[in-house]
Amino acid sequence: MVTISTSSGESLTRYFVVVSGENLALARAEIDALLRLLTDDFRVQWRGKFAEIDCAYDPTNHLINRAALVMECGIILAKQHSSYFMELDVSRDIFEEHVLGHRSFAVRTLCLDCEVDIPWRRRLEARLGDWVRKSTTLSVNLSAPDMTILVILGREQSYICISVRSLLRRELAARTPSRREFFHPSMMNVTLARIMCNLACVMPGDVVLDPFCGGGGILCEAALIGSRVLGSDLNWRLLTGAVTNIRGISQEYSMVQGNIFSLPFSKCDSLVTDPPYGRASSTRGAEARILVQALVDSIPQLVVRSGERVCICASSRMRVQQIVQDAGLRVGKHLSIRVHRGLVRDLVTVII
Ligand SMILES: C[S@@+](CC[C@H](N)C(=O)[O-])C[C@H]1O[C@@H](n2cnc3c(N)ncnc32)[C@H](O)[C@@H]1O
Repeated sequence: MVTISTSSGESLTRYFVVVSGENLALARAEIDALLRLLTDDFRVQWRGKFAEIDCAYDPTNHLINRAALVMECGIILAKQHSSYFMELDVSRDIFEEHVLGHRSFAVRTLCLDCEVDIPWRRRLEARLGDWVRKSTTLSVNLSAPDMTILVILGREQSYICISVRSLLRRELAARTPSRREFFHPSMMNVTLARIMCNLACVMPGDVVLDPFCGGGGILCEAALIGSRVLGSDLNWRLLTGAVTNIRGISQEYSMVQGNIFSLPFSKCDSLVTDPPYGRASSTRGAEARILVQALVDSIPQLVVRSGERVCICASSRMRVQQIVQDAGLRVGKHLSIRVHRGLVRDLVTVII
């Protein structure tokens, strides 16, 4: 059923990523933004939740540490046409290079766009596991392996990969705003805050501004990435709450009470924000659309770095992408997130 052989053929140096299926457009946009932070020299071919990445650098650690919507990623050791009688042809050089330094392993299978019965998958895992055990010094450890060999089974193509699973997703879930020292219902969801920082190309050391910072949901995530954060908000209680939350993460912050119509900051590298749109956040009588217009008008003076450096989240009714275009600015990405039947949020990035 499965035959395994090694060859000394050219290494593929291809990588893969599997993202969560909640919002594929958002996951793909996040991967695109993160790869762009590494290099311009990459190509991504998507097949549902799976992508094959052709990249000059190994993006595994970068994607695993940064992306909120990545489930697992790693290097592709071999790729071939799928058939029931699968012949796994693994380059010995690339295989040896990647098992070096590891002591134990496990083999898993993942079905991409096909259904393969469980007994067949178990036999494939056992067969490949047996081959790896005999060809290397690695021992089998199914519960806590040093490395995972993942066989991705697709209708047309199958892949043998070394895979790293994301720990970040669990960490993000544990950082839910209600567990922070200060909590307010208007605070930004942690996963979305991380995605927004990624879409705005936030890098460690960058100065990131949220001019509607509230209790600091977005800025906490930016600080965890390693950026220096600037925040302002009309509401003093929320602003001091944000300071309480950020203080536990970083000392590189500056928080000033202020109004979007006269911002207390003059420049930043990236701007990541969500203007008021829900019942929980007060606008003190100002029309929410006017606040967004003031925000968008301030972008050219505020954001000093070029590229896709601004990410705004707002209710789709606000039509932020139109406000951005009307201000003569370039929209990068425009993505929608369905919160519930009555509320769709738009994520809009601006290219500086
Ligand atoms: C959706 S909340 C922000 C959540 C926050 N960005 C986070 O990451 O948790 C919107 C915030 O805008 C603030 N706000 C309302 N009108 C404002 C104005 N004119 N200038 C500055 N902030 C304002 C509200 O006090 C509220 O905290």
